[in-house]
Amino acid sequence: MTTHHAPEAEERRAATGRAHGKIIVTGEHAVVYGAPALALPVPALSCRATVICRDRHRPGPIRLHRDGRRPDEPAHPSGTDAPDELLRLVGAFARRAGIAEPPGLDVFLDSTVPPARGLGSSAATARATVHALDGLFATGLSDREVFELIQVAEHAAHGRASGIDALATGATGPLLLVDGRTHSPAVGADCRIVVADSGTGCATRKAVGMLRDAFTRAPGRRTEFLDRSTELTRSALGALREGRLTELGLRLTDCHALLAGLGLTTDRTDALVETALAAGALGAKMSGGGLGGCVIALAATPEAAETVAGRLAREEGVRTWTVPVARGAGDERS
Ligand code: MEV
Repeated sequence: MTTHHAPEAEERRAATGRAHGKIIVTGEHAVVYGAPALALPVPALSCRATVICRDRHRPGPIRLHRDGRRPDEPAHPSGTDAPDELLRLVGAFARRAGIAEPPGLDVFLDSTVPPARGLGSSAATARATVHALDGLFATGLSDREVFELIQVAEHAAHGRASGIDALATGATGPLLLVDGRTHSPAVGADCRIVVADSGTGCATRKAVGMLRDAFTRAPGRRTEFLDRSTELTRSALGALREGRLTELGLRLTDCHALLAGLGLTTDRTDALVETALAAGALGAKMSGGGLGGCVIALAATPEAAETVAGRLAREEGVRTWTVPVARGAGDERS
């Protein structure tokens, strides 16, 4: 008689994990120093990682495939050696899972989150990979452990990462991060956020380092920045909660001015903000690390969002995405 063994969890050969993009509404950079920041998930920008274990009992290189090939095709020379952040992530995961030497793995990435645009592509990649590894090795990671593993990759990619990208790329609604704790802010009115890609890379690592150096030279500037950013985020949260969209828009534009004062915007992102405002956006700002990347613009209605997106595409030649923000009760006290 032949005995059929159900494949045990530990014998799985492939598993898939998912995550999505994000935008920072207010508080980028300040959040690195513990000040509050508000982020939104962008589920329409999706990231899927499928991890295939070549031979569970044989240590081997970690290869990354980002060319859209299907993971069920045999491993292919198009895969590249995994970048440092992915190697560190797999190393940290292996230690957590009690694996002495990681087996050879192929990581197939299928992501519509544009890289280096401040839309959370590195965190989404790390999150999707951690979920895939968790499934592959049946580790049963807690949310906290997933977060910490993503942060291993984020620190390698960005130097110092607040964790907001790691969290927002897995969130299902607006997310407030303050002093390392998360809240779900209330939203008092439906609205739309138009995201416009300036077409130039967002240099988060460089921008975070630039501010760190500037603040070391002039600690007073750091206090001033954190105070103002905190004030703007608090005011934006109140406006969001009460559905006062005009006021929320003004706070976004104030944020842009604050970040511009630190040298984080470019002529291009400034121009996109101007165009969005001229098209009737209630407010607009750079979003994420800056020095390029994306601009976001607030619109009260789907029609207004379409007008703003249309004008940005026509006059500035940029691609846009529109993120709906729905009314909802949150858990936040501020
Ligand atoms: C990047 O999306 C947001 C920054 O504040 C960096 C971070 O919080 O890790 C610039």
